[in-house]
Amino acid sequence: MTDKIEITARENGPYLIPVTGSATFTDAEGDSQPVEGSMVALCRCGQSGNKPFCDGSHKKADFQAPGGTVAIRAT
Ligand code: FES
Repeated sequence: MTDKIEITARENGPYLIPVTGSATFTDAEGDSQPVEGSMVALCRCGQSGNKPFCDGSHKKADFQAPGGTVAIRAT
């Protein structure tokens, strides 16, 4: 079975990662927390008050960056 994951960098905004089923976020210390919903938005502007997740602060910070998508295929 091959799974394809597409990570989208939203123009001037966060990384968007689709979630199907259940997902878990694990930080550098190994602490894990469940991720809810069908999409996870990870901050790439550095201004979020809820890192690593986007909280919309990129708008107030006038974050500027191009958008794009990378597809990763796990086999
Ligand atoms: S990208 Fe949204 S708060 Fe950083």
